Amino acid sequence: MNTPLAERTTEQLEQRARALNARLDQLKGAGLSLDLTRGKPSADQLDLSNELDGILRGDFRLKDGTDARNYGGLLGIPEARAFGAAILGTSADRVIAGGNSSLTLMHFVVDTAMHVGLWGAQSAWQNAGTHIKFLCPVPGYDRHFTICESLRIEMLTVPMTETGPDMDAVESLVAADPTIKGIWCVPKYSNPTGCVYSDTTVRRIAQLPKRAGEHFLVMWDNAYAVHDLADPPPRLANITTLLDAEGTEDHVVQFTSTSKITFAGAGVGFIAASRGIVKALEQVLAAQTIGPDKVNQLRHVRFLEGRLHAHMQHHAALIRPKFGAVLERLEESLGGLGVATWTNPVGGYFISLDTLPGLAKRVVARAKSVGVTLTPAGATHPYGKDPNDSTIRIAPTFPRLADVEAATDVFVLCVELESIAHILTARGAAPKQRSAQ
Ligand SMILES: Cc1ncc(COP(=O)(O)O)c(C=O)c1O
Repeated sequence: MNTPLAERTTEQLEQRARALNARLDQLKGAGLSLDLTRGKPSADQLDLSNELDGILRGDFRLKDGTDARNYGGLLGIPEARAFGAAILGTSADRVIAGGNSSLTLMHFVVDTAMHVGLWGAQSAWQNAGTHIKFLCPVPGYDRHFTICESLRIEMLTVPMTETGPDMDAVESLVAADPTIKGIWCVPKYSNPTGCVYSDTTVRRIAQLPKRAGEHFLVMWDNAYAVHDLADPPPRLANITTLLDAEGTEDHVVQFTSTSKITFAGAGVGFIAASRGIVKALEQVLAAQTIGPDKVNQLRHVRFLEGRLHAHMQHHAALIRPKFGAVLERLEESLGGLGVATWTNPVGGYFISLDTLPGLAKRVVARAKSVGVTLTPAGATHPYGKDPNDSTIRIAPTFPRLADVEAATDVFVLCVELESIAHILTARGAAPKQRSAQ
């Protein structure tokens, strides 16, 4: 077990820093070029779905006889809507199957709520005559923040806990401020902490529209609904059932996609909502398109029907060793030092690590100087500003296992070195460290 850095003498810390710096110098000479930034499937994972290519073998007929090659089917083919409904735990008539990106669908829904109105024309947020706000649990997903920024929605942060957003904070904020019109939620294997919302959190979210001002919207991004690494996986409460019981079903829109099931660049995205909201969205969609890529939807259904679970287990077998490699190294090198905490997710795509306050940017810069690229510090917070400058997102899926190992070795070294410098500075001792740039 490592001795906490804060309990070591200044001499011990200086000696350790010299050893770590010497190791970094060696690594600089090795010309590394490693990348832990991308929450993307690896090439091996993409290969699992190569059968999609050619699977239709000239048979483009849907079960109801429709020719998938032609125009039409605005809400998606019935088979794909049923497939999305099964993932999200709802019924097919409440699902829209779209194009390859759920993010596009999220932007579409927020944009519609802002400019058209999801609950009738009078409800458009732009009619409120004031700028509106969204709650963003942090750390969170930068592309959600980008959607808000692009629509000039102000973002307020609430802390993320191990059981989901801090619901006491969420409830008191929405009750006090009717200009708060929405909240982002990634309920299973949240990006980046990997936490799964507890039953209590899901129930409180389902009740939230009753506490909030009018025209409140929960953006329920269930991107990692089936991306389990543990067996049995944790269970997420079914929000549709809770919404129906609470009568709040018009205020929660769910999303998922096959981006990390099949091809990230050529999958199928889904929206699930109440029938009323689906109707409102359909009207806007009708002005945008005659229908989605039904051929790709059909390919997906033919490929995944009846084998989704087995397919996701193949993904897990490829991803698990990479998560394991990161977590083992974090524990071995940083465990007990008292300078970092990290999450231990059992699914999803990310691990989140918190350094001592004020060090995340320095750690990321130092790793970069040795050829290891990490997600920019701050990306996990709205406007790119982490007030503590401590959260770093680690994405281990894309690189080869050997590269994940090498990159994490550099990363832990940088965390330890910056932490030593920080402690020495606090003690008034010259840290004798070199700049990361
Ligand atoms: C929480 C979350 N939602 C959505 C996405 C992207 O989804 P899509 O590829 O369907 O646009 C990601 C990708 O990293 C994600 O982490």
